[in-house]
Amino acid sequence: MGLANGVHHLAICTRDIKKQIEFFTEVVGAELEALYWMHGVKNTFHGFLKLSDSSSVAFVQGPEVSEIQPVKGLSHAASHAAPVAPGTVQHIALNVDSETQAAVEKRIAASGMKEPQTFVLEHGYCRSVYVTDPNGLIVELTRDAPNVEKINSDRLADARSELKRWLAGDHHSNNNYR
Ligand SMILES: [Fe+2]
Repeated sequence: MGLANGVHHLAICTRDIKKQIEFFTEVVGAELEALYWMHGVKNTFHGFLKLSDSSSVAFVQGPEVSEIQPVKGLSHAASHAAPVAPGTVQHIALNVDSETQAAVEKRIAASGMKEPQTFVLEHGYCRSVYVTDPNGLIVELTRDAPNVEKINSDRLADARSELKRWLAGDHHSNNNYR
């Protein structure tokens, strides 16, 4: 059986593709690779931002995007407690190296954003900068810990037993890296 081998693109609705693209190209740091009118759907288009040679995030603006206002600038605790419909995006996390992460933090600071619209969390296995974009999407820019290969192989080895433990009601944290 063949297996899917990566995310081609993640499509996220936006009410303002101009602001969304400006934020991603100028603050987050991503290359606009294509803008396509969606075939068969009037007044709808996709803006593709390149993440790697094979993956992109695509913002979709069209008449179906509801005008419900997103909650802006959630703290970490609130972002994880806020109601989210099943099947929708809670946040997206982009992979960055230390230099890129530092550059993004400078651009965020220069844009005037402050807590709780942006905040940093040291997860131990990674360090993450969070920022809420102009459409209310929580974007995480994450840098893996230097010993990520060891961490990943340990976690891979016990992923099934940890799932079993969690399902059996033992919910103590297995993050010993912070
Ligand atoms: Fe995350």
